[in-house]
Amino acid sequence: MVTTRRLLSTSQSSVDPKELRKFQLLAHSWWDEQGEYSALHSMNDIRVPFIRDTVLNMGSTYQRGSPLSGIKILDVGCGGGLLSEPLGRLGASVTGIDPLEENIRVADQHKSFDPVLAKRIQYKSSSLEEIVEESVEMFDVIVASEVVEHVADLEMFIKCCCQVLKPGGSLFVTTINKTQLSYILGIVVAEKIAGIVPEGAHDWEKFVPPEELEHLLEANGFSVKTVNGMLYNPLTESWSWIESTSINYALHAVKSGGQAQTSQTEPLSEMESEQCSATAGTSV
Ligand SMILES: C[S@@+](CC[C@H](N)C(=O)[O-])C[C@H]1O[C@@H](n2cnc3c(N)ncnc32)[C@H](O)[C@@H]1O
Repeated sequence: MVTTRRLLSTSQSSVDPKELRKFQLLAHSWWDEQGEYSALHSMNDIRVPFIRDTVLNMGSTYQRGSPLSGIKILDVGCGGGLLSEPLGRLGASVTGIDPLEENIRVADQHKSFDPVLAKRIQYKSSSLEEIVEESVEMFDVIVASEVVEHVADLEMFIKCCCQVLKPGGSLFVTTINKTQLSYILGIVVAEKIAGIVPEGAHDWEKFVPPEELEHLLEANGFSVKTVNGMLYNPLTESWSWIESTSINYALHAVKSGGQAQTSQTEPLSEMESEQCSATAGTSV
């Protein structure tokens, strides 16, 4: 049976119990870098700098060693904490939530291996809807990485993100487009042939075209700033940025109502970037 703190019925919740069952079976393998989640481990190489540099370019003051110090991040669907940990090491105060208790247990246990993270990350077995009740306009940043393709009600999910984010705050989403190419590469090749992702992990019907996500965001108080294509190379087991968003993509949107925001994601200077990467240490 899937254990969640309070599993609302599908009509009231963004949580799809069928999707959670898939993650429950794999809860033991979050931190196996060669295991089922290896592609998520290597995705940190591009998603962590993307989030860090975008947040810094939005006007945060850069602090050597702790560039995200003072930034409150909600990591929705944090799983075993693969993304929460490097963001915490960059100095952010991270709340990681996941509806699956098993995931939160794994995340909590792994966090305990690094004393630096003790005060910077707190995990909670919770859905986004439950967080809304207690955290209105509390977070500077929300990350939902590889999550929206698993939710039951995307519009409700976006509305909840808007409610817990401060005006002018940033939402980062990474997900998979709904194209013929994403079916061939994301389902046939990745799941059935190469075994990069466990078979049945994804339901193509739930994949989200960037245009649909952008429309939903713009209709719910966000301004979309960046949509970048991402490509996974199974031979080098690494990700890179590409122009095409036809398979995977990363999106940055800003909640309206804040102070004037910079829309460009200017890269940090080489020295700043190296200092930040050294601090993040994306894996253990
Ligand atoms: C592919 S994993 C991504 C984990 C993590 N974000 C990362 O990138 O390492 C998807 C996660 O979303 C969680 N999830 C599924 N449905 C969700 C929902 N409606 N709200 C929040 N999280 C959800 C799952 O339990 C799982 O941990």
